[in-house]
Amino acid sequence: MKVLRLPREIHEARDSLRKTSDVVGLVPTMGYLHEGHVSLLEAARQRCDTVVMSLFVNPAQFRPGEDLDGYPRDEKRDFAIAEEAGVDIVYAPSAEEVYPAGFATTVEVKGLTEVLCGSRDGRRPEHFAGVTTIVAKLLNAVDPDFAFFGQKDAQQATVIGRMAEDLDFRTRIVILPTVRERDGLAMSSRNAYLSAPAREKASAIWSALLETENAYPERGLDEALRAGVRRLEAAGIEPEYFEARYPGTLDPAEDETGEAILVAVAAKVDGTRLIDNILIEPDKQVRRK
Ligand code: PAJ
Repeated sequence: MKVLRLPREIHEARDSLRKTSDVVGLVPTMGYLHEGHVSLLEAARQRCDTVVMSLFVNPAQFRPGEDLDGYPRDEKRDFAIAEEAGVDIVYAPSAEEVYPAGFATTVEVKGLTEVLCGSRDGRRPEHFAGVTTIVAKLLNAVDPDFAFFGQKDAQQATVIGRMAEDLDFRTRIVILPTVRERDGLAMSSRNAYLSAPAREKASAIWSALLETENAYPERGLDEALRAGVRRLEAAGIEPEYFEARYPGTLDPAEDETGEAILVAVAAKVDGTRLIDNILIEPDKQVRRK
């Protein structure tokens, strides 16, 4: 496994892969790898001749006062996990290389980034511009045939898909299912922040999403969402949002249209902000008489 630190090095590596006509897959990460990341690496390994993993804690997607400095980092461990998963090249540039003096460009997807985690009332509006700018840079630097992202960050996946289409990136964006702990908590590098009691409490997020999915066929969407929120509140968790939207457009979902519905939640559990979602497929929406 090669570790490359400079855009020039990744360009050179890409040029030589072009000569061997390798199919190249990219898995962008911010490190502190867990089984969710590994599932993306394994999918890339299966589909591609060469797997590139980027590891970069991207300052542009953190707001002042967010957890940039405290974001968990363990490069050595990440390299070992990546190697074990069959990664060929790790691209781990420094912030100075990615954002040199004079850097002035932002890639911004409108609309899709103004709801859920991007809505104006104190959530993370600038966050997605940071994400799309770095992902655009990574897609340009690596020029992969496929890039792999997790459904765990459903809005991020939708936004990146939109950007890739709008900007004529030729990379195919592949979205893979959320990997969960045994009690359903979505794996996340930020779970490392949770104390034991908070960790236990956090499993209510997945229970609440399941509650909504189960209640929907009999009780309709609004009541199913309320049932989910009640489940969270019973565990002492106040959601920032708990909303039903269409996964492609992120428009608010309506009852009984027979389209897939994304129910997405963000909540702070004892100070740690967690997100999760469930995709309710049409066959799970049929009303039971
Ligand atoms: P990070 O949080 O490290 O996640 C990297 C990738 O792993 C993302 O595509 C994310 O959706 C996916 N992922 C995280 N937890 C997962 C889980 N439990 N199951 C399946 N996939 C999971 O997301 C980012 O980094 C950054 O925003 C990035 C895209 C790298 C841009 O900086």
